Amino acid sequence: SRSTNDLTQVRLLLGFGVLNVANTLFALISALSLMIGISGRLTLAALAPAPVLMLVTRWFARQMFSRTRDTQESLGVLSGRAQASLAGVRVVRSLALEPAEQRAFSAASEQYLEKSLGLAKIRGAMFPIMGAVSAVGLLIVFWYGGTLVLEQRISHGDFVAFWAGLGRLIWPLMALGFVASIVQRGRASYERLEQIFVAVPEVVSGPAPAPALVAGSLAVRDLTFLIGERAVLDHVSFEVPPGGSLAIVGRTGSGKSTLAAILPRLLPTPAGTVFLDGVDVCTLPLRALRRAIGYAQQDAFLFSTTVARNIAFSLDQPDTDEAVERARASAAEAQILTELESLPGGLDTVVGERGVQLSGGQRQRVALARAFLGEPPILVLDDPLSAVDARTEAAILGAIERQAQQ
Ligand SMILES: Nc1ncnc2c1ncn2[C@@H]1O[C@H](COP(=O)(O)OP(=O)(O)O)[C@@H](O)[C@H]1O
Ligand SMILES: [Mg+2]
Repeated sequence: SRSTNDLTQVRLLLGFGVLNVANTLFALISALSLMIGISGRLTLAALAPAPVLMLVTRWFARQMFSRTRDTQESLGVLSGRAQASLAGVRVVRSLALEPAEQRAFSAASEQYLEKSLGLAKIRGAMFPIMGAVSAVGLLIVFWYGGTLVLEQRISHGDFVAFWAGLGRLIWPLMALGFVASIVQRGRASYERLEQIFVAVPEVVSGPAPAPALVAGSLAVRDLTFLIGERAVLDHVSFEVPPGGSLAIVGRTGSGKSTLAAILPRLLPTPAGTVFLDGVDVCTLPLRALRRAIGYAQQDAFLFSTTVARNIAFSLDQPDTDEAVERARASAAEAQILTELESLPGGLDTVVGERGVQLSGGQRQRVALARAFLGEPPILVLDDPLSAVDARTEAAILGAIERQAQQ
C-alpha cells in the first residue's frame, strides 16, 4: 500500500504537476502582459491577495494529502482486521472470542469513520474558502478599477478585458499551491521508490555456465549459518553420492528446515559450503540450481487454483493433456491420486485459498507431487511425511527409492 501510494504521488508529479506548471506559466505570461498593458497599478492591487491564495491552497493541499493517507491507512487496518478474523474464524470460535472480535472491528470501523469525516470536512471547506480569498481580488478590481473608469483613466472595454484576464489567472494561481505540495511529495516518494529499484537482492545468480547434465551428487562442507547472533547450523558437513539418500533427524528447532532451504539457496547460502557435482552452488545460475534441486517445504503452500495446476505448477502450460498426465503420474507416486480423484471435481477441484479444502496430510502430499513432477536429480523433502500414516509413508518412500534408481 505504501509503494502504491508512492507511485500515485510520482504520477501526480509527472502528470498533473508538470502539466500545470506549463499551464500556469502560459496563463501568467499572457494574462499579466494584458493586464499590465491596461494598468500596472491596478494589476498590483488585484494581485495583492495572490500570495495569500497560494499559501491557503498549499495548506489545503497538505491537509488533503495527509488526511487521504490517514483514511487509506485506517481502511487498511479495518480490512486487515476483518481478514484476520475471517481467516482465523475457527480459533475465534473455539475460544469464544466473537464479542471481542466484534468490538475490535467496531473500534477500527469507528476510526475509519472519523478519518473519512476529517477528509470530507477539509474537502467541503476547501473551495468556499479559496473562493472567498480570490473574491477579495475581484472586490479590489471592482473598487479600484471602478474608480479608474469613473475618473476616465481607463475605458469600459479595458475594464472588461482586465476582468477577463484576472479570471484566467485565478485557477492557475490556486493550482500553483497544489503543485508546490505535489512537487514536494512526489520527490520524497520518488526517493523511496528509488531505494526499491536500486536494492540488490541478497541471493543472485552466479557467473558459471549452467551444467549440461546434473549427475546429482551433493556435498556440504563445514557449513555454519547464523540467524542473528545464533549459529543455527554449526560446522555441518556431509556428502550424498548420485542416487544416494540421506535422512536428517533432530528435535524441532534444531535447524533441519534451515538446512533444507540453504541447499537450493532459498536462504543466503555462504560461499564455498554447498557443492552440486563438486561445483559451489553460489557460482551456478539460480535457475539451473533450482531446476536441479526439487524442494518440498514443510508447511506446504498451495495456490488458489485446481489441484492439477498446483502439481504442474512448474510447467509453462499446465493445462495441456500431457501436463495433466504428468500431474497424475506424480500424484500417484506421492500416494494421493486416489484421494484426489474422489474430490467433487477430481483433479480439477479448486482448492480454495491456500488449499483450505484439503487436509494437512493431503496438502503435504500435493506439494510432494509438485516436487516429484520435474523429476529433478536431487530431491530435498522437508518433513514431508509428518502428517501421513505409516502405510502411506512406506509407499511414498518406495516411490522415492524407485526415482533414485532411475
Ligand atoms: N526466519 C527466522 N528468523 C529467526 N529465527 C529463525 C527463522 N527461521 C528459523 N529460525 C530459528 O532457527 C532455528 C531452526 O529452525 P528450523 O530450521 O525451522 O528447525 P527445524 O526445521 O529443525 O524444526 C529455530 O530455533 C528457529 O527459531
Ligand atoms: Mg522444520
